[in-house]
Amino acid sequence: MSESRRFWLRTYGCQMNVHDSEKVANLLCHHGYTASEDPDRADLWIVNTCSIRDKAEQRLYSDLGGLRAWKAAAPGRALGVGGCVVQQEGDALMRRFGHVDFVFGTHNLRWVPAMAEAATRGVRSARLEESHSPERFDFPERHPDFATARPGRAYVTVMEGCDLFCSFCVVPRTRGREISRPAHAIVAEVESLAAAGTREITLLGQTVNAYGRHEARGLRRADATAGTVPFAALLRRLAAVPGLARIRYTSPHPIFYDDELIRAHGEIPALCPHVHLPVQSGSDAVLRRMRRRHGTDDYLRLIGRLRAARPDLAITTDLIVGFPGETEADFRDTLALVREVGFVDGFSFKYSPRPGTPAALAPDGVPESVAQDRLERLQSLQRELTLAAHRARVGETTEVLAEGPSRRGGRQRAGRDPYHRIVNFAARADGGPVPGTLVAVEVVEATPHSLIGEVRSGAGASVRPVKNGLPDADEHWRSAITGA
Ligand code: SAH
Ligand code: SF4
Ligand code: F3S
Repeated sequence: MSESRRFWLRTYGCQMNVHDSEKVANLLCHHGYTASEDPDRADLWIVNTCSIRDKAEQRLYSDLGGLRAWKAAAPGRALGVGGCVVQQEGDALMRRFGHVDFVFGTHNLRWVPAMAEAATRGVRSARLEESHSPERFDFPERHPDFATARPGRAYVTVMEGCDLFCSFCVVPRTRGREISRPAHAIVAEVESLAAAGTREITLLGQTVNAYGRHEARGLRRADATAGTVPFAALLRRLAAVPGLARIRYTSPHPIFYDDELIRAHGEIPALCPHVHLPVQSGSDAVLRRMRRRHGTDDYLRLIGRLRAARPDLAITTDLIVGFPGETEADFRDTLALVREVGFVDGFSFKYSPRPGTPAALAPDGVPESVAQDRLERLQSLQRELTLAAHRARVGETTEVLAEGPSRRGGRQRAGRDPYHRIVNFAARADGGPVPGTLVAVEVVEATPHSLIGEVRSGAGASVRPVKNGLPDADEHWRSAITGA
């Protein structure tokens, strides 16, 4: 091959999916590919899919429609599809879409370069098998050509899969059984990232704070949790990594908070004062039918204990409206819980029936118009709470990890503060602050979506947007959930 082949990756879904796309991009770099600047001119297109709600799944089908022309425009072009929809639909996707060259499941990322290469020779392939070995966490270090869309920040997988089987959720069927990664491998990856300039890591897992739980309880299941330590102990080890300034984790489940993890929030300075803790509903009857394994009392008690450990903790959440059988009274209980906790932000969704889940068989569905009305009422309450939380911050100086150009355009830059709030600020005359560096910013104005501030410190240099065909996680998560 004289010229390197160019790939384009489109990613839907959660941070785990975005990180899977990063792993695939990095593997492709190791195999001589480069990220394309232009989707139309790529030689290899990959769609990494999400199936959490029907809308997310439908995005794939509309993309595949559009990609027929791209595929036909030049010989040797290859099209691959991966992720949760693939795990759900299997190779039926290949039968339905003749222009798809290969499909890979959520445990089969490592096969992508070989499958892409086979595709150029006209060989179609599918890899969908589930792996129960922690070896599936092993990926090469970042290739020099791998550019991240998130300077200074990195995702690190600590566990994968989910054994909880909430009645509405497809994830246990697409991500398989819970597996934790050996602690030494996590520490080594974080050390190498920090040595290369990463200031903030987000530990990822479908139920991230279940990390190592089987081993901790003496329930070792084959090698699925070998070499783990309790989650709080992992946080303490990572906090000691030189150069690392911030640690986050997502998504935790309420039932996996133990005393140690709660205490960690008060004791580890690098652990950010923000927890995204999905509650799904404020009605105990609905929570029971969702099979969430906790009630509203348990949730509120946990919030109280977390706040006792870390009084300024910002709490955000996920909520579902219109779950089968949800009454107006149930929904009001959700509104009441949202007010009581005072979530700083939240993602809310209309319930979407998913294939193979028990809730999809429930006879008492909520009419679409009712679900829509509840969604709007809930979102309007959350906007009110978010704005109030933002207004309370005006006048404070906060520490922002500068990311790059702001959505607000012009000379505006954006970054996140320790509470995971977006902070916009004007670039300085010298072009600074450099993306991926920490700066002090004074909050001068609050909007419902972000804070606006003025830089008070930090080194300067020119700012260029980083481009590599990979989406920003947070933006993508937003577009996936709004279906935008
Ligand atoms: N593991 C996380 C959730 C991951 S899915 C947890 O247990 O908290 C992300 C969010 O999508 C969920 O918190 C839930 O609010 C939403 N979601 C999941 N399945 C859904 C469905 N069938 N319909 C609507 N929203 C759903
Ligand atoms: Fe889905 Fe429940 Fe598992 Fe979260 S804990 S991934 S909502 S089954
Ligand atoms: Fe994530 Fe969507 Fe799969 S939310 S785990 S990519 S179904």
